[in-house]
Amino acid sequence: MIIDTEQYVNQIDEAVTAIQAKLPFTPDIAIVLGSGLGPLADEVEQPIVIDYSEIPHFPRSTVAGHEGKLVIGTVSGKHVIVMKGRFHYYEGYDMDMVTFPTRVFARLGIKYLLVTNAAGGVREDLNPGTIMLITDHLSYMCPSPLRGSNLDEFGPRFKDMTEVYSHALIAMAKKAAASVNVSITEGIYAFFRGPQYETPAEIRGIRTLGADAVGMSTVPEAIVARHSGMTTLGISLITNKAAGLGQTELNHAEVTQTAQEAERNLVKLVKEILKEWNL
Ligand code: HPA
Repeated sequence: MIIDTEQYVNQIDEAVTAIQAKLPFTPDIAIVLGSGLGPLADEVEQPIVIDYSEIPHFPRSTVAGHEGKLVIGTVSGKHVIVMKGRFHYYEGYDMDMVTFPTRVFARLGIKYLLVTNAAGGVREDLNPGTIMLITDHLSYMCPSPLRGSNLDEFGPRFKDMTEVYSHALIAMAKKAAASVNVSITEGIYAFFRGPQYETPAEIRGIRTLGADAVGMSTVPEAIVARHSGMTTLGISLITNKAAGLGQTELNHAEVTQTAQEAERNLVKLVKEILKEWNL
């Protein structure tokens, strides 16, 4: 929880200054890559790579399948900054650290966030390999990343959350999917704290509340992006049926393997989305 906002904002600004020193441009879109989705970063042309350890106050990735690098360059003609490796609450980071990079992106002047994740399918038709555009989320299980003193420099104390995931960007992504023939669905993503996977009872419960997919990321970043005035597009890659809905136990190796297998489709889609993205 942020108690000393002045110190926190100073830390953000020190990280911003260090990144800016290496950037030839201000990126248009920040992209956060989920478990097993790292290869998307290989699509970046003329990449400038900054290791998280080179950025003051930046946390470090501790999870298999998550490297710790920013990759900055061009994809489909858009200037992007890609986070290869993100931070999760379950790693032990508090929400202010989980969302530190999002604040840094906002402070860099980046207006858009594209956030991806690996997720479990709760809705019956969400099988492994399905790509889901996130239309909304359930944050009941998520400690608020806005708790503590408000960061007035970024946004107001009580921020509206009616359109965390931009309707206009969802419409654009649907068109992009049709034009490259990648099938997609839409749905609501529910956050669980992890690191343990959910129980079948928890999945039944969250399904009753309206969830289509579950995961352990994205919601903190999307809330902070909204608070910071950024516009977000969220994409889940379904890597498994949620607990109690499939035949096998859940494990992380399977999640990352399925993500890697479905990666090609997602890369194709994201490249087209970036091409169509109206800045
Ligand atoms: N639950 C939570 N997080 C996940 C899952 C899941 O089933 N699959 C991938 N990330």
